[in-house]
Parts: sequence; structure tokens; C-alpha cells
Amino acid sequence: MGVLERELAYHEKLYSGFAQAHFARPAVRALRRHMAARIVSLTGAGARSRVLSLGCGIGDTELLLAAHVAEVVGIDLSPAAVRQAREDAARQGIANARFFEGDAGEASAGGRFDAVVAVFFLHHLADAALAEIPRKVQKLLAPGGVFYSLDPSRRRLSGAVGRVLFPRLMKRYQTEDERELDPEFTAGIFRAAGFEARVEMYDFGSSPLAGLAPGWQAGYRAARRMDDWLLRVGAFGRRGSNFEVVARAARGQPIAGD
Ligand SMILES: C[S@@+](CC[C@H](N)C(=O)[O-])C[C@H]1O[C@@H](n2cnc3c(N)ncnc32)[C@H](O)[C@@H]1O
Repeated sequence: MGVLERELAYHEKLYSGFAQAHFARPAVRALRRHMAARIVSLTGAGARSRVLSLGCGIGDTELLLAAHVAEVVGIDLSPAAVRQAREDAARQGIANARFFEGDAGEASAGGRFDAVVAVFFLHHLADAALAEIPRKVQKLLAPGGVFYSLDPSRRRLSGAVGRVLFPRLMKRYQTEDERELDPEFTAGIFRAAGFEARVEMYDFGSSPLAGLAPGWQAGYRAARRMDDWLLRVGAFGRRGSNFEVVARAARGQPIAGD
């Protein structure tokens, strides 16, 4: 089996019930709300924006984003995920979110987007597919558009602690092919393709806590406030859990592949 087949097999199983139940818990919902607000703030997406989400899963972040933008389109390899996302959109009466099955690396339909987002997606791509992503994103972005990604950092303290304290749990929630990414290396792939890219650190302990204690919303909120403070301290910031890349086509720069 190749990476895509393994990803598909793992996620079909994950989205056959466990993910839906887990993502509906209060701390995970609070995390998703924070993520959606953060995406809006870092991309500048607004009421007239079209947003494309690569590897959207069951679309729970995208359905929250839909309230802030003109249109959200999600694409995911997993038919079970796309089915759930469509059902949830219909049940919540959200008409400006559409979801499609497919390989996000090959996404081409639907015109150009003001923002392309990839939430916990890039670290699932094989190295060769990851290296190709900036060029593909560029073809999907409207002029002045922005790319946003969120992925686990190779330098994260929570990963080092988790591997010692909960090795089995860590393995259970990871596919065979995913790996933590180096923040600067990831931004560098975009810079090499002609983007202006910067790295932001998203969190320290709050998202891992939401995963471990999904019913404890008050705990998540307190951890989030603590993160906002810790991430301002340089040393903690570097060991944060998940990092963001925010990338725009540099003015006057040719983009690789154009
Ligand atoms: C860790 S999950 C993240 C899902 C969602 N963004 C979220 O935040 O819950 C990674 C997702 O990427 C999808 N995926 C992996 N490789 C893909 C590819 N090449 N094209 C589209 N989706 C892919 C998987 O099916 C899975 O839903």
C-alpha cells in the first residue's frame, strides 16, 4: 500500500464513529472555535472571501469558518469524512460550505480562492508531495491570496513528554506515515517557491489537553489563557506544540511552476 491508501484506510476507520464522538466533546469544540477565529484573524478572510480547506476531515473547523466568509470548500481523501461534513452542513442549515472527496494535492476545480487552509494536513503528506504543495497552492490562490497551515512541531515539548508518558496513546492517534514537521523547514518550502512565509506558534498545552480531556472545557480555556502567556516567552514558544505557516506570494517574485 502507498501513503494515500494507508491514509485512506486509517481515516475511514477513524471517521466511522470515534472522530465524530470525540470532536463533539466540549473542549474539542472550544478548540475548534479558537482555531476558526485564529484562521480568520491570520488570513484576513472576510464576508467576501472564498476559502479552500485541504484535508478538511469531517469539516468541523470549516463549518465554523463558514459563518465568517462567503464560501468554504473542503476536500478530503476520506468518503466517510466528506459524508459526515455534508450531513453536518445540511443539519446545521449551512448553505455556503461544500465538501468533495479527492486527493488535495490534485485539487484544481472551483476557481481561485482568497485563502487556502490546511489544518493538521501537511504533516500527513509524503516528503515529495509536501515539496510540491506550494506550487499547487499558488495555482489555487487568487491574486493577493494567503495560505495558512497548522501542524505539530518537531520541537514540541508535549510530544517528547507524551512519548514517555503515553506511548501507546500517541501511536493510536497517529497514522503510519504522519510525522511532526520542523516549522522553519516547512516555511522554507514556501519561501523557496516564491512566497513570503512566516511561522507562528499556535499553542503549548491547550490542544493536547483538549485531546486528552475532551469533556473538560474549563480546563481547556484555562490552558488556552496560559498558552497565550507562555508563548510570549521565547524559550516556551520554541517548544510549542503546533505551529502555523502564513504565506503570501511575494510581490514581483515569480512563483515556481508559473
Ligand atoms: C489529521 S486529519 C485532519 C483533518 C481535519 N483538517 C481536522 O482538523 O480534523 C488529516 C486529514 O487529511 C486527509 N488526507 C490525508 N492525505 C490526503 C490527501 N492527499 N488529500 C486529501 N486529504 C488527505 C485525511 O483523510 C484526514 O482527514
